[in-house]
Amino acid sequence: MRIVLLTGPGGDAQGWGDMKVTESVREATESLGHPTRIAYVADEAEFFRLADRPDFDIVWSALYHITPNEKFIGRNAAGTWIADELDARRIPYIGSDGRTMRTMIDKFQTHEILAAGGVAVPFHALLHSGDDAAAVTFPAFVKPICESRSVGISDESVVRNEDELRRRVAYIEREFDEPALVEEFLPGDEYTALVLGNGETRECLPGLVTVEEKHYGNHRILRSDLRGVGLTRISLAGERTEEARRLCDRAAEAMGCLDHVRIDMRVDADGRLRIIEVNGIPGLKPHKSWAPQIYTLYHASPLGEDEDYRRLIGVIVESARRRYSL
Ligand SMILES: Nc1ncnc2c1ncn2[C@@H]1O[C@H](COP(=O)(O)OP(=O)(O)OP(=O)(O)O)[C@@H](O)[C@H]1O
Ligand SMILES: [Mg+2]
Repeated sequence: MRIVLLTGPGGDAQGWGDMKVTESVREATESLGHPTRIAYVADEAEFFRLADRPDFDIVWSALYHITPNEKFIGRNAAGTWIADELDARRIPYIGSDGRTMRTMIDKFQTHEILAAGGVAVPFHALLHSGDDAAAVTFPAFVKPICESRSVGISDESVVRNEDELRRRVAYIEREFDEPALVEEFLPGDEYTALVLGNGETRECLPGLVTVEEKHYGNHRILRSDLRGVGLTRISLAGERTEEARRLCDRAAEAMGCLDHVRIDMRVDADGRLRIIEVNGIPGLKPHKSWAPQIYTLYHASPLGEDEDYRRLIGVIVESARRRYSL
């Protein structure tokens, strides 16, 4: 099966990681017997040249959409969305379809769909400067609606009154040109689950995410300065394992996720898990991103972490291959 790994300027902010990570994915798929090339598309024209003359069997994209922005994801509502374009051309690709990809990037829409499917999410409201905020109770948590890697998250994300709320909403609009998502503050532990495969063979692998206590400031949250610098630790989810598994399985079903996603959760004030987001293109940095770390926690091979990584990539590629009968 000939694979094209699609990436571009947004590959690190949006997707599995930088060019080095893309090269690691390529090495893994090659070693699994799939001839693989990397297509770095700098702009829409380069993407269309690739999509209009396919010389491959399947695409795996690090990008949700095409943008020159290397720093953050952005909404890009009117832009070119990879899965939509591949759907229109009936080109097979790894991962969720266009509709689900767009929903996962929009954390408000994600909450709406999950809530409608009976899946536990926090109280949530979309807020622009000047909007009525009467429904918000405090403490609340304010974040950009469609970012990743804790971009825009600091201790100031936790607001205690309407004045702090309004200041933080204005900050989000100014920095990211996005509306703010306001949620109930979830004070408990944080979990993330790697979800692999489809239907009957879907597997949910939850892990507990921690940072050494001394790194936290006023709140036990994963601020942006704690991410991507080797400070987070993943361990087994212990007593929460079954609750997290059930929740993530239902969430993946309600969202229509395919092949692999990573679902983040926190414990609310009443001690129950709630889903905070579904990541459509989880990070795949070997041995460092949460997805490969969780895979090793559950499926460590005697041959070591490199082999675990290869097998993880193999599970994802096989899930897609089977769906398309390639
Ligand atoms: N409602 C909340 N209550 C408390 N903390 C929260 C809440 N929502 C998010 N957080 C904290 O902010 C961090 C980032 O939030 P979230 O997972 O929604 O965004 P992200 O930047 O997209 O993350 P990722 O890199 O996993 O895609 C979380 O890891 C968590 O520590
Ligand atoms: Mg997250």
